[in-house]
Amino acid sequence: MGVRNAPPHAGPMLESLRGLGYATPTAIADLIDNSIAAHAKQIDIQFEWASDKSWVRIVDDGIGMDDCKLESGMRLGTRDPRTERADGDLGRFGLGLKTASFSQARRLTVASKEIGGEVVCLRWDLDLIGKESGTDWPLFEGPAPGSEHLLAPLYEMEHGTVVLWEILDRIVTEGFVVSDMIELLDSVEAHLAMTFHRLLEQQNTDLCLLLNGRAVKPWDPFLISHPAKALESSEYRLVNTTGVVVQCHVLPHRDMLKPVEQEKAAGPGGWTQQEGFYIYRNKRLLLSGSWLGLGDGGKPWPRDEAHRLARIRLDIPNSADLDWKINVLKSTANPPVRLRTQLHRLATETRATARSVFAHRGHISPALHKGAKALADVWQVRRSAQGTSYRIARDHDLLASVLSRAGPLKQDIHAVLRLIEETVPVQRIWLDTAEDKETPRTGFVSTPEKEVLETLYAMFEALVQYRGLSQDEARERLSRTSPFHQYPALVSTLELGETNDEFKSEGF
Ligand SMILES: Nc1ncnc2c1ncn2[C@@H]1O[C@H](COP(=O)(O)OP(=O)(O)OP(=O)(O)O)[C@@H](O)[C@H]1O
Ligand SMILES: [Mg+2]
Repeated sequence: MGVRNAPPHAGPMLESLRGLGYATPTAIADLIDNSIAAHAKQIDIQFEWASDKSWVRIVDDGIGMDDCKLESGMRLGTRDPRTERADGDLGRFGLGLKTASFSQARRLTVASKEIGGEVVCLRWDLDLIGKESGTDWPLFEGPAPGSEHLLAPLYEMEHGTVVLWEILDRIVTEGFVVSDMIELLDSVEAHLAMTFHRLLEQQNTDLCLLLNGRAVKPWDPFLISHPAKALESSEYRLVNTTGVVVQCHVLPHRDMLKPVEQEKAAGPGGWTQQEGFYIYRNKRLLLSGSWLGLGDGGKPWPRDEAHRLARIRLDIPNSADLDWKINVLKSTANPPVRLRTQLHRLATETRATARSVFAHRGHISPALHKGAKALADVWQVRRSAQGTSYRIARDHDLLASVLSRAGPLKQDIHAVLRLIEETVPVQRIWLDTAEDKETPRTGFVSTPEKEVLETLYAMFEALVQYRGLSQDEARERLSRTSPFHQYPALVSTLELGETNDEFKSEGF
C-alpha cells in the first residue's frame, strides 16, 4: 500500500485559520493567557490608531523565551493538546498565539527575552507566504523593516515578551475611524474585566492589565458578599469529578441596588445576556451567560427577564479540558453528559429563587424562604395540558371567613370571584412586564399604611374569630405571610377590639 505525504499548503491553510471566529476581545484574551502562563505580573496592551499603519502590541514581564522556545511557540500546533499541562497553564492547543493574531492581523512579530539572555525575534507575514523560494512556511527573523522601534520596551526589561500585530486588515476595515477604535477599546476593556476578574481581584495579587495605560478594573458578576443578595450558596464539589466546584448566586433585585450598582452589575451584555452559568478554567472565565442547553421537557431554557438574577459559578481544572470539550478560542465548554443531572438540579433551584426575587421585586424575607408556617396564597397557579390558569383560593383565611358569613350573598361572591379569575389581564401584565423589564407593582408597594392596615386587620380578625387562632398565633402567621411580612411594625400593633371599628372594611 502506498503512502503519500500531504502537508497543507501554507497560504490557504493560514488564510483559513483566520476564520476560526475570534473577535478582537477574545483574541487579546488568548494572548493574555500566554502572558499569565508565563508568570507575567504586568501586561501592557496598546492599541495605536494610525489608519492603515495602526498596530496592537502586548508587552509582558513574564519569563520570556529563548530562541529555541520562541521558534517552537511560533510554530502552528507546537504542542499536542493531549499532553498534560502545568496547573496554572491557560493553554491547551499550541495554536492560540498564531490563530488569535492572524484573526486580526496579517503580520505577527514576537520578540522575547529570558533573564540574562538576548532579545530574540521572529515574525509571520501572511503577505510574504509563497514568496520565499524553497520555504513553504517562512518564519522571518527580526521585525519588519521600519517596525524596530515598536519592540523598544523589551530592551529596557530584564525578561519578558512583546507580541506585535501589524496590518490589521480585520480591525481597520473600510470606513473604520478613530471613534470606532475607541469603541473597540471599550469592548476589549469590558471583556478583559470580565474574563480575568478572578485573577485580578485575588487577594495579594500583583497582576495588572493595562489597556492604553489605564488599569483594567475587574468586573465581579456575583456581587460577592452584597447584603441584599437572595442567595450565595457555599461552594460544593460536584460528585464524579476531579475538582469541579460550583457556587450558586441570586443577585439583588433592582429595587435593592443603587442606580450605579445596578448598571455595573448588569455586565457587558446586559442582565438577560449575563444570566446562567459562568465557567472558569484555572480562574479564567471561558464562558458566561448560558444555560448550557439545559432545560425542561426537551426544550432548553431561554435567557429571560424572570431569571436574570441567577448566576452560577463553575470552576473546572485544566485537567478536565477534554471532558468539557473546550475550544481553541477558550470561549466554550460543554459539561460532560454524566454531570448534566446535577447541574440541572442546581440550576433549577437557583432559577426558582431568582424568579421569586424578580416576581416579588426582591421582597423575600428570610422567614418566607425557610418554609416557615405562613398563610396560603390568595392566588393559586394551576398548570394543565390546556394551559396555565390562575384561581383564587376559596379556603384562604379571609375569604373562607367572609364566605361563611355571607348568607344569601354567597352565590354572588362566588360569581364575582369567577369573574375576576376569568378576566385576569394576563396579556396586559405580560406586555407591561416585557416593556418595563419589571413585574408590575403589587404587594401594597406605595400604599398608605392606613390602607394596608384595613386589609391586615380584616385578615387578623378572620384568623382569630373564624379560624380560632389566638391573637399571638394570628400575628405570628401574618408576620410570615407575603406581603404583610414587610410590615412587622403594623402587624405587632394588631389587637382585636381596639381598632375594630376604625379599620373594619365596608362589607365585613
Ligand atoms: N507571552 C509569552 N511568554 C512566554 N511564552 C509564550 C508567550 N506566548 C507564547 N508563549 C509560548 O508559546 C507557546 C505557544 O503559544 P500558543 O498560544 O500558540 O499555544 P498554547 O498557549 O500552548 O496553547 P493554546 O493554543 O491553547 O493557547 C506557549 O505554549 C508558550 O510556551
Ligand atoms: Mg496560548
